[in-house]
Amino acid sequence: MMRHIDLRSDTVTKPTPEMRTAMAEARVGDDVFGDDPTVNKLEATAAAIFGKEAAIFAPSGTQTNLISLLSHCERGDEYIVGQTAHTYRYEAGGAAVLGSIQPQPLDLNPDGTFDLERVAQVIKPDDYHFARSRLLCVENTHNGLALPMEYLPRVADCAATNGLRLHLDGARIFNAAVKCNVEVREIAHYFDSISVCLSKGLGAPVGSVLCGDRQTVARARRWRKMVGGGMRQAGIIAAAGLFALEHNTGRLQVDHDHARLLAEGLAEIDGYKVEYDQAQTNMVFVSPPYDKAAGLQDYLRTNQVLILGGSRIRLVTHLDISREDIHTVIGLFKSYST
Ligand SMILES: Cc1ncc(COP(=O)(O)O)c(C=O)c1O
Repeated sequence: MMRHIDLRSDTVTKPTPEMRTAMAEARVGDDVFGDDPTVNKLEATAAAIFGKEAAIFAPSGTQTNLISLLSHCERGDEYIVGQTAHTYRYEAGGAAVLGSIQPQPLDLNPDGTFDLERVAQVIKPDDYHFARSRLLCVENTHNGLALPMEYLPRVADCAATNGLRLHLDGARIFNAAVKCNVEVREIAHYFDSISVCLSKGLGAPVGSVLCGDRQTVARARRWRKMVGGGMRQAGIIAAAGLFALEHNTGRLQVDHDHARLLAEGLAEIDGYKVEYDQAQTNMVFVSPPYDKAAGLQDYLRTNQVLILGGSRIRLVTHLDISREDIHTVIGLFKSYST
């Protein structure tokens, strides 16, 4: 089969032969009975890495975010969230649909942070006219931007002062930690719960973990069962997640270097607007000139490069993309555009 250079997302990575071997050899049991040794090991490992009391494995980041929100909030509660955050915008409204949790979306600053004064302003007084403001939901990285470390104690303080719980959608928290040159636990430390994807830059085919205190994770376990995330011999996929945590977190700087190389190469092409912030990790955003936008995706596809369409294109580097691939992509953008 023809190999494609796939820049649509870091979710497209395929398990390597070594990861597949770990999956094939995984010891398994019925995880709904708590019997799967590999799932149990993954959960214990994740809890230790993130410095939390407990963790739970689930099929997707959408589900770990959902069961976290359901665990923190009750029917009639409200969570405050970025207008462009994944939990609000790209998870089919699950918190509202399944939890009767009202979202209070807020525009984020260009660096992915909340304006904390605005957060304080939208928190509802304790009055029966209003939903009860219960939770603040942060995303790191957001659009590939690592949140500044100095912001984390401020957002935690804002939540604590106002009696809000604090959840982190840390789908790409390892990218954020590499960018900020810290351990992931130094980021997780500020949050009551954190959702982490194993199936993005870490290269597992499926799976996410939710880490937090014992009580929150116990509540999440009930919600996971209810939404159909109680899996049986899940050790087969948990083994891939464990392998990812053990082998693939140390190489993320390579993806960031590739993103920078890509951004620099595309910025040389006339008329292309490249957004590449200093806090950027494995994502580059590029806007082609108006007359070039329509045909770009097809041109690249016929040359075995996959991108998402649109006028502002997100390009994502990951462990299946080499330095040579980046040069190929830059060359193709140039040949298409000149
Ligand atoms: C920031 C963020 N959070 C959560 C998710 C959800 O993960 P999943 O696709 O595993 O449901 C994604 C997926 O792209 C994401 O980008």
